[in-house]
Amino acid sequence: MEKFIIKGGKPLRGSVQISGAKNSAVAILPAALLADTPSVIDNLPDIKDIELLAQMIRHLGGKVEKKKHEIVIDPEGLNSFYPPRDLASQMRASYYLIGALLSKFNEAVIAMPGGCNIGVRPIDQHIKGFEALGAETTIEHGLIRIKAKKLVGNHIYFDVVSVGATINLMLAACKAEGVTILENCAKEPHVVDVANFLNAMGANIKGAGTDTIKITGVDKLHGCHYTIIPDQIEAGTYMVVAAATKGDVYIKGVIPNHLEAIIAKLTEMGVIIEEHDDVIRVRREGPLKHVDIKTLPYPGFPTDMQQPMAVLLALADGISVITENIYENRFKYLDELKKMGARVRVEGRTAIIEGVEKLTGAPVYATDLRAGAAMVIAGLAAEGITEVMEVYHIDRGYEAMEVKLQALAADIIRVKE
Ligand code: EPZ
Repeated sequence: MEKFIIKGGKPLRGSVQISGAKNSAVAILPAALLADTPSVIDNLPDIKDIELLAQMIRHLGGKVEKKKHEIVIDPEGLNSFYPPRDLASQMRASYYLIGALLSKFNEAVIAMPGGCNIGVRPIDQHIKGFEALGAETTIEHGLIRIKAKKLVGNHIYFDVVSVGATINLMLAACKAEGVTILENCAKEPHVVDVANFLNAMGANIKGAGTDTIKITGVDKLHGCHYTIIPDQIEAGTYMVVAAATKGDVYIKGVIPNHLEAIIAKLTEMGVIIEEHDDVIRVRREGPLKHVDIKTLPYPGFPTDMQQPMAVLLALADGISVITENIYENRFKYLDELKKMGARVRVEGRTAIIEGVEKLTGAPVYATDLRAGAAMVIAGLAAEGITEVMEVYHIDRGYEAMEVKLQALAADIIRVKE
C-alpha cells in the first residue's frame, strides 16, 4: 500500500495538462470489441482502471497493445463472453462489458458489480434495458448471466437518469435489429464521447447529449482511430487545487463548456477564472464566499466534484450547504476531513459546512477515488503535514497525481506504507 505525504500551506503555481476522460475510456475500450477490425484510441488516461480493462480484454481473447496514452485493441480473436471474475469485481465499470459482449455474442456472464463507499449503485436500469431488447437475465452465485436469441430494437424509458445505463444500452443496441429509442438519458460529455466513438466505427446513433437517443441497428462495425475527450472531473479537481491553495494555475487541454457548472460555482465563491480556448487560468487572492451546491445530472453540478468542493467550502467564510442528489451516502469522507479541523454536520443527503480559518495536517484515508482527491486538496491547503493513506483509490482515476502536483511546486511525495 502507498501513501502521500504532503506539506501544506504553499500557493500552487504553474500549469497542469489534463488527461483523457476516465469515464469515457472505461466505456470506449469495451465498445471497441464490437468492431471486426482493430481500433486505435489515444489521449488515453494512464490510470489503473484502464490497466484492469486491458487485462480483462486480453483474457477474453482480444489483442491489446498499450502504450502510456494510446491503446490498440484488436477484437478479432475474441473467444469468450465471461470476463475473469477476480478482475471484473475490482471495477464497477466492468459492467460495460455486458453491453459489449451481449451485442457481440448475444451472451455475457459477469460478476455483479459491487457498490462502493458512495452508495448501493444498482444496475436495474441496465438490466431493464437489456431485457427490453430481448435478453433474459439470471443472477446466481454473484454472477449476472444474460442471453438473447437475437437483440431487437425497442423503446426504453429509464426510470433514473443513469450514465452507465445510457452508455450500456447504446452498446447493446447499436447492432440490434431495427430502431431503439432511449428516453430520459444521461447527457454527460462522456456519454456523447462514447456515441461519437461508436458512430466513428459505423454505428448510427443520434441525439447523444440530449434526453432522447435514437439508435438504428447496423450489421457490422469497423475499427477506427479515436481521441478521447479531456477529463472534466480531473480538470475540476485541479481548479479546486488552485483555489484552495490561493494559487495561480493554468489548466491545459480542457473543453471549457464541459466545465460550466464548476466555473459558475467557483466564480460565485470569488475565485478568478479566465477561459481561453483549451486552457483555463484559475487564481484566488481574496477570501472565499460560502455557496450552496446541489449535485445533479449533467449539465448540473457533477456529483464527482462534490467531494473536492467540500474542502473549499470548509475554508470559505460562513455556512455552505451541499445537497447530494445522486448518491445516498457520498459524505463518508467528511469524517476524514473533520480530523483536519473542518466543521461539518451531515443530515441525510445534506452536509452543512461552517467555514474555518484554516485546516491542519493529519493522517487521513482516501475512502474512494474522489474522496482521496479531496484529502489531497485538504492536505495542500492545510498547515503542517498530511498523510493520505490508500492512494490506490486515487490512482484508479487520476494519472500520476503527485507528479502533476509537484510540477505546480506542491510539497508531496508518494511512499510505501
Ligand atoms: C458514473 O457512474 C460514473 N462512473 C460515476 O463516477 C459518476 O459518479 C456517475 O456516473 C454519475 O455521474 C463511471 O462513469 C465509470 P449512474 P454510474 O448510473 O454510471 C442510480 C467516479 O468517481 N442507478 O449515473 O454507475 C445510482 O445508484 C465515479 O468517476 C440506479 O438506481 O452512475 C445513482 O444513485 C463515481 N439504477 C444514480 O442512479 C441503475 O441501474 C446515478 O448513477 C443505475 C444507476
